[in-house]
Amino acid sequence: MPLRSATAHDAGLLRDVLLEAYNWTGEQRFTAERLAADPYAARYLAGWPREGDFGVVAETGTGDPIGAAWARRLPEDEPGYGFVAPDVPELTLGVLPGHRGRGHGRALLTALVRSALDQPRPVTRLSLSVEDGNPAVRLYASLGFVRVGRNGGSDTMLLTSPAPPAS
Ligand SMILES: CC(C)(COP(=O)(O)OP(=O)(O)OC[C@H]1O[C@@H](n2cnc3c(N)ncnc32)[C@H](O)[C@@H]1OP(=O)(O)O)[C@@H](O)C(=O)NCCC(=O)NCCS
Repeated sequence: MPLRSATAHDAGLLRDVLLEAYNWTGEQRFTAERLAADPYAARYLAGWPREGDFGVVAETGTGDPIGAAWARRLPEDEPGYGFVAPDVPELTLGVLPGHRGRGHGRALLTALVRSALDQPRPVTRLSLSVEDGNPAVRLYASLGFVRVGRNGGSDTMLLTSPAPPAS
């Protein structure tokens, strides 16, 4: 499965993936319209890509999108659900229905962590928010994310990677 960096052309895909993350239970708790009007959701998407944003996209062999993972720093006065600190980007991850359970989520997250370390100023910390009951928590824990807090009915998790050697 090909992976590539996310670009400005992927804004629509990222919106679709964010909707999947909001609707992880499989029920349509959020419609696309509600998501578009939700100021909290907009924080993850507005102006994509902003300076410092980075992400990865998974595609089929014929170039159709399968899923995406991306990360963005958010300020303390307009935080995301998984806010830890203004210098710690929060990630969003999702695989489109019909493509799950085949390793794409793990591949996307692994590539995002690698991409974080490859940034001009390597990013060694990434946070996320995962709602109680979402089995994605097992994926996060297996990659080294640890629970550092609670926000409503969700865990805030943090990955701290070893800094790459200075070149
Ligand atoms: C979470 C998600 C991104 C995982 O992607 P995926 O391609 O389905 O996952 P993978 O096949 O790479 O599996 C990775 C791990 O995820 C865990 N996992 C994720 N969802 C799971 C589910 N529904 N049931 C069981 N295990 C699940 C498993 O521990 C699995 O571990 P394994 O590799 O040892 O089997 C995907 O299921 C998804 O988009 N879900 C809806 C949106 C969502 O929940 N996003 C995250 C919000 S915090």
